[in-house]
Amino acid sequence: MSESPWSLESYLQVRTQLVEAALDHYLPKATTLPGSLHDSMRYSVFAGGKRIRPILMAAACEAVGGKTEDVLPAAAAIEMIHSYSLIHDDLPAMDDDDLRRGKPTNHKVYGEAIAILAGDGLLTEAFILLSNPRVLTGISAAGRLEIIHQLSRGAGSLGMVGGQVVDMESEGQKIDLPTLEYIHTHKTGALILSAIEIGAIIGGADATQRHALHRYGEAAGLAFQVADDILDIVADQLDLGKDVGSDEERGKATYPALLGLEGARQRARDLRDMAFSALEPFGDEARPLRDIATYIIDRSF
Ligand code: IPE
Ligand code: IPE
Ligand code: MG
Ligand code: MG
Ligand code: MG
Repeated sequence: MSESPWSLESYLQVRTQLVEAALDHYLPKATTLPGSLHDSMRYSVFAGGKRIRPILMAAACEAVGGKTEDVLPAAAAIEMIHSYSLIHDDLPAMDDDDLRRGKPTNHKVYGEAIAILAGDGLLTEAFILLSNPRVLTGISAAGRLEIIHQLSRGAGSLGMVGGQVVDMESEGQKIDLPTLEYIHTHKTGALILSAIEIGAIIGGADATQRHALHRYGEAAGLAFQVADDILDIVADQLDLGKDVGSDEERGKATYPALLGLEGARQRARDLRDMAFSALEPFGDEARPLRDIATYIIDRSF
C-alpha cells in the first residue's frame, strides 16, 4: 500500500492529539483538591487552541532527527505557560476580554481571584513537570537545565512578561516601529523562540542547526504576532474564538495601526521569507517548519 501524501493538516492533527494527551496526563485532575483551582486550570488548557508552540517544538526536534515523543513533557509545559499567559492577558486589569478559545474567558467563569491563581498554578506546574526526574529521561542533567533555562527566559521579565508590560504601557500612545517590534518579539516571539530552542536541544541539534533554528524562531515568532494583529481586524469572532476589534478599542500598539493593513501583511510576508531562508541548510526534514511558517501568515490573509 502506498503511503498517503504528506499534509500539514494531518501533521498538526497528530501532534495536537499527542500534546493534549500529555497535558491531560501531566496536569492535576479536576477533582484534585482544591477542585475549583484545578477545574479552572483545565478549563482554559482544554478549551481548544492551536497548540502551535508545542507543535513548533516537535517540528524543530524532528528537523534535527529527534522523535516527536521525546518533546512531549516540554511541549506540555510550554502550553501550560502559554495558557497561563492567555488567562492573565484576558483579565480586566489587562485586555479585559470575554471570549477565548471559543468560550467565556477564565475570569468570567471562575472569577478574577481563581483566574489569577489558575495562571499562577499553570506557570508553576510547567516547572514542576520539567524538574521531575521521571520525565525527559533521555536528556542529560545539563540538557534538562538548559531546557528549563530557555523556557524561563522566554516567559520571564526579559521575555513574554516584559513584552506584556510594554504592550500595556503603550496603550493609547504613539509609538515608533522599534518599540512595537520590542513588544511583539517579547510578548509573543520570545516563547515561540523558546519552543524552537527546546526542540533543537531535545533533538540533539549541532551548533549550525541551532543557529539556523534560532533565526527561524525569531522570524516565525514575530510573524505570529503580526498575523495576530491582522486577525484582530479582519477575522470573524466565531472563527477566531476570541474577541475581535479589541486592539483598536484599547488603542493597542499593533502592526496594522502603525503600517496599515497592507504594510502589516507585507511585513508578515517578509518575515515568512526570512524564516524560509533560515531553513536553507535543511532539506525535507524541515518541511513541517516551512509549512507552519506559511500557515502562520496565511491565516491572516
Ligand atoms: C494567542 O496565541 C496569543 C498570542 C500570543 C498571539 P495563539 O493564537 O497561539 O492562541 P491559541 O493557543 O491558539 O488559543
Ligand atoms: C498576547 O497578545 C500575548 C500574550 C498572551 C503573552 P494579545 O493580547 O494580542 O493576544 P490575544 O489577541 O488576546 O490572543
Ligand atoms: Mg494582550
Ligand atoms: Mg489580548
Ligand atoms: Mg491579539
